[in-house]
Amino acid sequence: MKVFENISLKEYNTFGIDVKARRMVMVEPKDSVECIVDSIRGQEVLVLGAGSNMVFTKDYGGTIIILSRDSSKHAVRQLGNFVNAWGGMVMDDLIQWSLDNGLSGLENLSAIPGTVGASAVQNVGAYGAEAKDFIDSVEAYDLQERCRCTFTNTNCQFAYRDSFFKHYPGRYLILRVVYRLNKEYTPNLSYKALEGLPHDTAQQLRDAITELRWSKLPRPEENGSAGSFFKNPVVDEETYLHLKAEYPNMPDAHPVSISNIQSLIGYKLSAGWLIDKAGWKGCTQGRAGVWPKNALVLYNTDGCSGEEVQSLAIAIQQDVKQKFGVSLDPEAIII
Ligand code: EPU
Repeated sequence: MKVFENISLKEYNTFGIDVKARRMVMVEPKDSVECIVDSIRGQEVLVLGAGSNMVFTKDYGGTIIILSRDSSKHAVRQLGNFVNAWGGMVMDDLIQWSLDNGLSGLENLSAIPGTVGASAVQNVGAYGAEAKDFIDSVEAYDLQERCRCTFTNTNCQFAYRDSFFKHYPGRYLILRVVYRLNKEYTPNLSYKALEGLPHDTAQQLRDAITELRWSKLPRPEENGSAGSFFKNPVVDEETYLHLKAEYPNMPDAHPVSISNIQSLIGYKLSAGWLIDKAGWKGCTQGRAGVWPKNALVLYNTDGCSGEEVQSLAIAIQQDVKQKFGVSLDPEAIII
């Protein structure tokens, strides 16, 4: 375990925002969890994955806990078609590792930044797949009750970019995630944008999805971002039909269930389309901008602060609400 005092978080959030944390504890797979608890010393805690979904608007006065980014062979174990991976492992490394070991399923999630632990917290998703489709269980440490606990897939309460853990920031340290993968490859081509992509092997599909994804997002080494900044909003049928009548070019919304009462169906709109249509694509405000190739992505033009990102996000939310009557919720967590 390594402890850092007064450390810059620039390298620990994908937006590249330069704020400081009072303390940061970096945990290795071999560390005992008891030692982690001792190191917190009663301070406020924030558990950070790869920081790919965080916007820091100010210095953090408590302790940040981060799992080391270990993607070595020690980080992952295979038992049949189950894979048990260290929470700090880079998710994309796990996807490649599983394909190299004859297990498929995760290829549609290729090139999503972030760690294995964050994949469970955020229920990351892309191109017709979500982490929840493959997560068997999650091994966590409850920093409040000071005990290890295992969550089944159901206990994780996964929903669109949401999980049980997301509602308790700083409480659960996700140590390991067990994924149930496929020994036999069946391509998942349900997402419209995948039509025509090479998919004879899972590796081919992974490579094509990686390329497709990077064509829409800033290169992390050039411009920081948090991927999609907003969630796609779910509206009622009346709102959807009204918008569709007014804007026939609006992408068709998919009916989604919005509660466990089957009759309650909502329509998931494309936030990217709404923001684009409102005229924000390519705009900048201060040093924060809206990515010219994808209006759903806010980015750091050069050395921007979290406050600049936040004020751009608020301006977009207000404008979209005024123009379309639709509220946008950030997918990114603003700290
Ligand atoms: N669109 C526009 N203008 C834009 C952006 C999008 O008109 O500037 C339209 C597209 O043409 C398309 C529709 O909006 O008709 C949806 O766009 P896209 O297929 O790119 O998907 P998305 O709904 O915007 C979601 C995820 C992404 C994921 C993609 C692909 C969310 C919030 N975002 O985006 O996830 O990669 O689908 O599956 O659900 C992320 O979470 O960080 C992320 C990148």
